[in-house]
Amino acid sequence: MAALPEMMTAIEIVGHGGPDVLKPTRRPVPKPGPGEVLVRVRACGVNRPDVQQRLGGYPPPPGAPDIPGLEIAGEIVGLGPEVEGGWKLGDGVCALVIGGGYAEYCTAPAAQCLPIPRSYDMVRAAALPETFFTVWTNVFDRGRLQPGESILVHGGASGIGTTAIQLAKAFGATVYVTAGSAERCAACVKLGADRAINYKTEDFAAVVKDLTQGRGVDVVLDMIGGAYLAQNLNSLALEGRLVIIALLGGPKGEADLARVMVRRLTVTGATLRPRTVAQKAEIAASLRSRVWPLLDAGTIAPVIDRVLPLDQAAAAHHAIDGDHIGKIMLTVP
Ligand SMILES: NC(=O)c1ccc[n+]([C@@H]2O[C@H](COP(=O)([O-])OP(=O)(O)OC[C@H]3O[C@@H](n4cnc5c(N)ncnc54)[C@H](OP(=O)(O)O)[C@@H]3O)[C@@H](O)[C@H]2O)c1
Repeated sequence: MAALPEMMTAIEIVGHGGPDVLKPTRRPVPKPGPGEVLVRVRACGVNRPDVQQRLGGYPPPPGAPDIPGLEIAGEIVGLGPEVEGGWKLGDGVCALVIGGGYAEYCTAPAAQCLPIPRSYDMVRAAALPETFFTVWTNVFDRGRLQPGESILVHGGASGIGTTAIQLAKAFGATVYVTAGSAERCAACVKLGADRAINYKTEDFAAVVKDLTQGRGVDVVLDMIGGAYLAQNLNSLALEGRLVIIALLGGPKGEADLARVMVRRLTVTGATLRPRTVAQKAEIAASLRSRVWPLLDAGTIAPVIDRVLPLDQAAAAHHAIDGDHIGKIMLTVP
């Protein structure tokens, strides 16, 4: 293995604001700590939380790098002490990281690394961790979605949404989604959604009621929050679960809580980034045994809208505010 350089190129946030605050910089190559590997990054995913960090609304947790980027793929080029899981130098991995992905090198807890699925290149592999960890833990752990149940996924054409559609279908659920245009709805149906609701022209709660003959769905995966609270509760079946993962429509909403009691609903939610390595390791282990075989077999696959080089991170952030379907990716030369 070639000797590691002292310094690397990375993208830093020079001040909170629009995409143009993302600037290339030179930083020391990070050193892997106990239980960590050092990855030569080949590709990195761009996610909405990166945008929120850039805007100043989602600061990195204590101890996390200030460089954005929550998911990477590349080769292991360094091992910290006490690395478990059998990883060795030269292995290809994709990993969920707490930050620092927009860079040539990034450390990752070994327990948050997963193998590159069969026949995947680095870009496709890097498109997996953030949405697969998020959807798995929220839809299947917190939301307890079961085969034969139904789910409503908001933002069906987003990175999270395209993953949620495929995973929920693969595990035997009926899937309804919302999206903001006819074209985006069509993309969701092509991915497997049973019905896509254009929330700009249709009342999603009324459509869900019709589709389920008044019963409602078992799970709602929500990224809108306050603005959809009442309609989400109205869309749930008896014993239904509302799982909130983002607040694009604000943190506050008004709803009739009698519905929660009478219909025995659960309202829950989670953020992934601040959770402990042990908790993320548990999610990684479930993904490896339950979901990686589906990726290896080609049953499900990440949806990639576009791929840009690392030095065009600002353009990638402009693109995430556009009408992308699925993921926006950066390659690291
Ligand atoms: N809690 C966690 O751990 C966690 C982890 C990762 C991501 N997230 C959150 O999950 C969300 C999706 O992430 P992403 O990276 O996949 O972002 P993204 O691709 O930018 O997705 C945002 C989506 O929100 C949809 N949307 C906006 N307003 C809507 C409305 N009123 N009704 C229905 N859909 C609406 C948009 O759909 P249209 O364009 O079709 O309108 C868009 O597809 C982000 O808010 C992100 O912060 C949370």
